Amino acid sequence: MLTNDQLAQWDRENFFHPSTHLAQHARGETPTRVITGGSGVYIEDRDGKKMLDGFAGLYCVNVGYGRPEIAEAIAAQAKELAYYHSYVGHGTEASITLSKMVLDRAPSNMSKVYFGLGGSDANETNVKLVWYYNNVLGRPEKKKIISRWRGYHGSGLVTGSLTGLELFHKKFDLPLSQVIHTDAPYYFRRPDLAQSEADFTAHCASELEALIEREGADTIAAFIGEPVLGTGGIVPPPAGYWAAIQAVLKKHDILLIADEVVTGFGRLGSMMGSDHYGIEADIITIAKGLTSAYAPLSGSIISDRVWKVLEQGTDELGPIGHGWTYSAHPIGAAAGVANLDLIDRLGLVGNAKEMGAYFNKALADALGSHAHVGDVRGEGLLAAVEFVEDKEKRTFFDPSRKIGPAMAAALLEQGVIARAMPQGDILGFAPPLCLTREEADIIVGATVKAVEKVFGAA
Ligand SMILES: Cc1ncc(COP(=O)(O)O)c(C=O)c1O
Repeated sequence: MLTNDQLAQWDRENFFHPSTHLAQHARGETPTRVITGGSGVYIEDRDGKKMLDGFAGLYCVNVGYGRPEIAEAIAAQAKELAYYHSYVGHGTEASITLSKMVLDRAPSNMSKVYFGLGGSDANETNVKLVWYYNNVLGRPEKKKIISRWRGYHGSGLVTGSLTGLELFHKKFDLPLSQVIHTDAPYYFRRPDLAQSEADFTAHCASELEALIEREGADTIAAFIGEPVLGTGGIVPPPAGYWAAIQAVLKKHDILLIADEVVTGFGRLGSMMGSDHYGIEADIITIAKGLTSAYAPLSGSIISDRVWKVLEQGTDELGPIGHGWTYSAHPIGAAAGVANLDLIDRLGLVGNAKEMGAYFNKALADALGSHAHVGDVRGEGLLAAVEFVEDKEKRTFFDPSRKIGPAMAAALLEQGVIARAMPQGDILGFAPPLCLTREEADIIVGATVKAVEKVFGAA
């Protein structure tokens, strides 16, 4: 066994970490965090420090850590058949069974599921399929994709473009020209404080329509959005938002991609976010909760409407020119089958609803009246606390003060992990769906102490 210092040195010398300050890390100014185990909502590091993971990894370990049912399914699949491809009609019992399980849980207008590896490649697939769809329909100009500022859809070329966060564009020459952005459905940050929620929803819909008219509806293929904004700040939509947006899209014959990478399979206390908000998507992106991250797997669920055109395309052109070596990887698929089964058996969707309501209320009760807490919001087991400099005037802290990261650090000192969201002083929570009341109380208590530590006791 290597000593910790050797590992830290190898880490600094060899490992390119995602979403990391590369120079500081290489210089050893940021710690190497080696995670060695996990059970339920807790993870443990190499020093034996136990931490309550209030963000379920990257909102993905939905069933919690250390589930033997999934580990055993993975091991059994690896022993029996670790790999075969899924090209030209090949499959495994696991991948075929999982496709049926996914469709059983998806809205009724959905027809098929394509499996990839992660959320980014699934959205990449979606954009390609939307382009193919419009080419088959003889509309080669109808190609642009509308995304929202603060949306998060991945960090590839097109998916990093869809992502509406500055950090993911700067110096990467993104967004690509085929992607345009519209307003974030972020009521707390509405431009006009006098706006009611209904007014703000109407504002978002009319801004979208104005953008479509400026660009020309015949140039716009699809709109992509997360049912609840995730990485952009954990923001549930204002009342009536999805109905208003869908009316605009229908009017202009624009497809809707619901990115359910975070919300799929129970996070909001409903099986799918689309059902939760009455979203009738043409394509649904899934990943994280599909396997609870026990193995990499994502999916693009395709509606009847889109599927018919894809079939027409292959009748005209031959086999679809799309696929990855690891599409529908048997080990990922076996993890998915065991995971979805476990979610049902443990009643985790219901628990997310019940515990989500409890957790969100407890956070709001404990922090809502604090002078620097501007907003406490959430849905199901997603929650966020947003900090402000002046509550009355809703002014924000200068980003250089790094209030969000300071909060996350103060929580970590107490053994609780929350996420400082990348844009704004926003502390995000997305614990495993198996959270108990006692664990929710621990997170809330630690958050109260963190706020006291960063701002001083009230
Ligand atoms: C809504 C959403 N879409 C897509 C992605 C990208 O997924 P991945 O990181 O697996 O590529 C994420 C990741 O957080 C996400 O939250």
